[in-house]
Amino acid sequence: MRIYRAKDYADLSRKTAQIIAAQIIMKPDCVLGLATGSSPVGAYENLVKWYEEGALDFSAVTTVNLDEYRGLPRENAQSYDYFMQEHLFGKVNIDRSRTFLPDGMTQDDEQECRRYEEIIRSVGGVDLQLLGMGHNGHIGFNEPGSCFEKKTRCVDLAESTIRANRRFFASEEEVPRQAYTVGIGTILAARRILLIVSGKEKAGILNQALFGPITPEVPASILQFHGDVTVVADEAALSCSELK
Ligand code: F6R
Repeated sequence: MRIYRAKDYADLSRKTAQIIAAQIIMKPDCVLGLATGSSPVGAYENLVKWYEEGALDFSAVTTVNLDEYRGLPRENAQSYDYFMQEHLFGKVNIDRSRTFLPDGMTQDDEQECRRYEEIIRSVGGVDLQLLGMGHNGHIGFNEPGSCFEKKTRCVDLAESTIRANRRFFASEEEVPRQAYTVGIGTILAARRILLIVSGKEKAGILNQALFGPITPEVPASILQFHGDVTVVADEAALSCSELK
């Protein structure tokens, strides 16, 4: 595991974008596993800027996102599909037919999960998986639990996640209670993993994830088992860690 210490969120965003850009330059037809939420917004801004400057070409890139809320149509401004369109897909020359997210409006959960796993398999797996981490240590929407769930599935969101995501919605009642998420096994199957963590409120859980026991109670701790993980965290997020 390589751990890069960023000075602040701007520095973290630049370093993250540099790693993603290097992946695209080295393999223009790569498969990126992408995340939503606050953590990657700055990195996406950098990628858009470098694309506009002519330094990056997304035309052959494929993307598979980690998750999508259940029950939100893609046109809903809080859906992750909409988020990706706003922050990245709508601003670069990516082929929208090669950007994949679970369909939050599907009627048949199990079929949707199988369909999504099949998409990931058919594109040849993920070259670089970008991950944020929740305040409770979740990755994707793999919430703390009694076991590590392997495959894509529909999950109930933890109360702490609903509260954390409340900031994006008009009221807490509007935050969806369920989401589709790729599983821990699907995440670990990525050839490289890039975990980004910002802010002092995640310092304790980041320390547990990186240096504590590997346990389903801290889902991100499973990353200690993966052979190619890069962590980019800012000083605040590393403030409880042995690296400080
Ligand atoms: C989002 C995702 C989540 C977030 C995590 C952190 O696609 O999979 O695991 O990465 O909840 O969210 P932020 O970055 O908003 O703190």
